[in-house]
Amino acid sequence: MLADIITLFPEVVNVPLGSSIMGRARDKGLFQFRVHDLREQGMGKYRQVDDEPYGGGPGMVLRPEPIFATLEPLRTPQSRVLLMTPQGKPFKQEDAVRLSKEEHLIFLCGHYEGVDQRIVESCVDEELSLGDYVLTNGAIAAAVMIDAIVRLLPGVLGDDESAVQESFGESGLLDHPHYTRPAEWRGIKVPDILLSGDHGKIAKWRKEQALERTKANRPDLLEGK
Ligand SMILES: C[S@@+](CC[C@H](N)C(=O)[O-])C[C@H]1O[C@@H](n2cnc3c(N)ncnc32)[C@H](O)[C@@H]1O
Repeated sequence: MLADIITLFPEVVNVPLGSSIMGRARDKGLFQFRVHDLREQGMGKYRQVDDEPYGGGPGMVLRPEPIFATLEPLRTPQSRVLLMTPQGKPFKQEDAVRLSKEEHLIFLCGHYEGVDQRIVESCVDEELSLGDYVLTNGAIAAAVMIDAIVRLLPGVLGDDESAVQESFGESGLLDHPHYTRPAEWRGIKVPDILLSGDHGKIAKWRKEQALERTKANRPDLLEGK
């Protein structure tokens, strides 16, 4: 998979996508990313990328020309252009799964008040939101979404099962609690069942715990089940 990221702030994505599991995935050739600084296509002596909104009001809007000049050479029939915006459809695990099957994703990251609507209408395949809050810039959202997508690619996680047995996995539930050594820490013991060696009972306990957590923290996930 190839991810192209168009942003005014390359450093916001370079670090998370070059580190840890993402960095190793790239080193192994499982995915590639390229960051395109929108400023390079800025207009005039000052490489202007934004302007005042027509109709008045606060803030600045990203002009269409620098975005188009950056985006157009990257597009191929296989590309999917994703606009990062709080007005988009909320990005969920199912979107990560769906997008992990694409060959080429282009993440268009806004700043200030966002991008000129004509770009949205003529170049964007999908508008995606990280959640119901407003970030300062779309590169933060792109880094999060790319991480969620890329970790699903075959070979990225050490243990392929770990993408299945976790929150929002096949069960649709939140994950169960996890414990490691020591067996007792500050007077709090690891549940006996986890030390029992009885894998059937452990699996049942984990399922119950996952259900309890989901009921408590995310009852919406159980609707219609
Ligand atoms: C300050 S926000 C613009 C908010 C916009 N005026 C609005 O109210 O919908 C600047 C940029 O950050 C990004 N952004 C902010 N919140 C986001 C979210 N929840 N999901 C994805 N991107 C977001 C978008 O790329 C947006 O263009």
